[in-house]
Amino acid sequence: MNPQINTLFVASEVVPFAKTGGLADVSGALPKALAALGVNVKVVMPRYYSIDRETLEHIPMALGVDMGSMGELWAGVYRSHLSGSDVEIYFIDHEAFYGRSGLYHEEEAYADNDIRFVFLSKAALQLSRALGFRPDIVHANDWHTAALPVLLKTTLREDAFFKESASVLTLHNLQHQGVFAKELMDVLGVDWRYFNPMQLEAMDNVNLLKGGIAFCDALTTVSRKYAHEIQTPEFGFGLEAHIRAHAHKLYGILNGVDYEEWSPAVDPYIAARYDSNSFEGKALCKRDLQERFGLPLREDVPLIGFVGRFVTQKGIELIATVLEGLLAMDIQMVMLGSGEQWAEAFFSNMAGKYPDRFGCHIGYNNALAHQIEAGSDLFLMPSLFEPCGLNQIYSLRYGTLPIVRATGGLDDTIVNYDPATGEGNGFKFWYATPDALYHTVQWAVDTCRYQPEAFRAMQLRAMKAHFSWKDAARQYLDIYLALYYQNRIKRYQ
Ligand code: ADP
Ligand code: GLC
Repeated sequence: MNPQINTLFVASEVVPFAKTGGLADVSGALPKALAALGVNVKVVMPRYYSIDRETLEHIPMALGVDMGSMGELWAGVYRSHLSGSDVEIYFIDHEAFYGRSGLYHEEEAYADNDIRFVFLSKAALQLSRALGFRPDIVHANDWHTAALPVLLKTTLREDAFFKESASVLTLHNLQHQGVFAKELMDVLGVDWRYFNPMQLEAMDNVNLLKGGIAFCDALTTVSRKYAHEIQTPEFGFGLEAHIRAHAHKLYGILNGVDYEEWSPAVDPYIAARYDSNSFEGKALCKRDLQERFGLPLREDVPLIGFVGRFVTQKGIELIATVLEGLLAMDIQMVMLGSGEQWAEAFFSNMAGKYPDRFGCHIGYNNALAHQIEAGSDLFLMPSLFEPCGLNQIYSLRYGTLPIVRATGGLDDTIVNYDPATGEGNGFKFWYATPDALYHTVQWAVDTCRYQPEAFRAMQLRAMKAHFSWKDAARQYLDIYLALYYQNRIKRYQ
């Protein structure tokens, strides 16, 4: 019988409350899977302006948060539950920081993001104290909450309430590190002696993620491959040496999928439900998708989908470079996303130029994301780097075969089609070049068009794959337990 572990899980976005990417999917699902294994977990996030207070339960407490040189600031507290569960999620309310339309930016990143998220970290600890919830594990995610391991190992090291709390930091994306002017040290309230290149300093700035990596007790990332990649210059974004120095505590744990949300058998957003035993519905979904994008209603034409942020990470430059070549193959393609302005303009223009082959929707649209997963034959994800990637895993369940670059979680989840044996669940390329992308798409399209039986067999196999949160949660629990026992042992030394 395992001891019960108390975990304080802090993240900047959590579904269904606020989402810009996969971090929200993970934060909405992993805590539930941990709770199912007996972990006593409480989630904390900001009460962004877009989250209606009326839908939450007000907790009558005011948290005084020590913001160092800014003095003490106050936060209100709200509560709700992760969907379909009794896992509590707490919202930190502070109008001046979170009463804005975006999560992190409008046109540009908010200038006070450092303060906004250090506040989240500090308020989460303060909340834990106010609730009398003594965490065995404080689980932080990405740079936004990377101050948590730092605070626990510095200012709070001897704190009676937190001195047995260990920290886990999960890296969902190393590109964003939280680099800010060094005056942030005074707001953090952490001694300046930690402002050194082994801990919090990078080029005379504070790098919150670097600090988190230095001070956390366990460092995890969201696939095994990415755990290796981030130790190399190509993927380390300047932190590769720092991560190598901490590689003894680094683990790669693949994300799972919430199949209640992402499964064509139960999906309320799609035109017809289907599964691997009754596949007919997929053709209706394809037709529905073609209608939505004003494309000719052709069953025979291979339809490729893309859903994702329009940023370099996702390989949008590669797609843009070869798009006209791809469209010359007699295919249809639809894209959903938003991000860099050039990309929004470019893809919209292409939709105007090739209305019978290419459709583009700029914006964030969850229902359409589901409809693209269901209605496409192939799903394109040519990322330059991809810590885990969720869309390709969702695609598998929808029988929509992924075309991916072999990096990070894409490489760990997609098995290249082998025409000799018929094995595989998608199509992969290695070099991030337009040529490689073009030829791999051509191969996938040809397989879809000319080898329909092999393609169908692969689709059905892909739909049976199961990427379970239970497995992932078990691996996190192993880490939690190891840290818990280490702390107990230390007490007797
Ligand atoms: P990342 O977190 O790097 O953006 P992931 O593949 O892990 O990539 O997760 C992206 C998540 O965000 C998926 O759930 C995807 O469906 C969703 N998503 C991305 N862009 C959009 C969009 N424009 N509209 C709706 N959902 C989107
Ligand atoms: C990040 C990564 C993505 C990953 C997600 C959830 O946003 O870019 O690859 O799936 O986090 O871990």
